[in-house]
Amino acid sequence: MTETVLSETPAEGVRQITMNRPDRRNALDRATYQGLIDALAAADADASVRAVVLTGAGGCFTSGNDIKDFAAAAATGVGAEIAIDFLTAISTAKKPIVAAAEGFAVGIGTTMLLHCDLAFAGRSASFRMPFVSLGLCPEGGSSYLLPLIAGSKRAAELLMLGEPFGPEVAQDAGLINGVTDEGGALAAALEKARALAALPPQSVALTKSLLKRGSAAAVAETIGTEARHFGERLKSAEAQAAFLAFLTKR
Ligand code: COA
Repeated sequence: MTETVLSETPAEGVRQITMNRPDRRNALDRATYQGLIDALAAADADASVRAVVLTGAGGCFTSGNDIKDFAAAAATGVGAEIAIDFLTAISTAKKPIVAAAEGFAVGIGTTMLLHCDLAFAGRSASFRMPFVSLGLCPEGGSSYLLPLIAGSKRAAELLMLGEPFGPEVAQDAGLINGVTDEGGALAAALEKARALAALPPQSVALTKSLLKRGSAAAVAETIGTEARHFGERLKSAEAQAAFLAFLTKR
């Protein structure tokens, strides 16, 4: 397990997984994606784990994919494969996942919430899916799931314009269950995770799988289709110019 992903047991039956690169606003590099994939697999494999809490260190959820890795894609040919592996892992995880977001939740930091069963955010959390302004396209099944839960107009607004939005909009769009005081998201998530952990685990798992059943095939197909386009977009002149602009702006 890499140190950029922390796994701990804050309460009986609850596994807390923390994205931990605070100096990079918890940007997800390959090691961090692999750590998350491993942590989710370990939680699913461990019968003592009844619920998972997913959060970020340092008052930030995650600033999304590490842009240095994206910028290297044109030269190395290594694209977003491990991000797709993570999205597949989180979208097919068996144990209930409760997200706790403070600060920034950008790109995959927002789209991964679509795959969490419950999510809470602090009052000053900021969400954003800036795929178009980065010359990219939606990922993580968001082009299917967001119109489904938020409506097509709201989804177009959030995915095409890609402007930042606050927790009230995120709640209205169905991305989170509730807004807490600043710094209170983790406590809210842990409370719900403890409640889930106290329930009959087979019934919880069955209910999760039934809730996902209707959309699972479409989500998997969309993640794959988006990934093919995303991989091409990563190498495009539009995207490479946007990455360079971010990496050289300071
Ligand atoms: N990839 C790589 N590095 C990142 C990063 C990312 N996604 N997000 C932040 N960082 C780095 C910054 O370059 C900065 O590095 P530096 O200290 O060497 O200058 C450091 O993390 C702190 O980020 P900073 O931008 O100074 O923090 P902030 O609080 O002012 O802003 C964000 C936070 C998240 C709004 C801003 O960092 C941002 O927009 N990041 C990019 C988000 C993004 O586009 N993600 C990809 C989506 S597909």
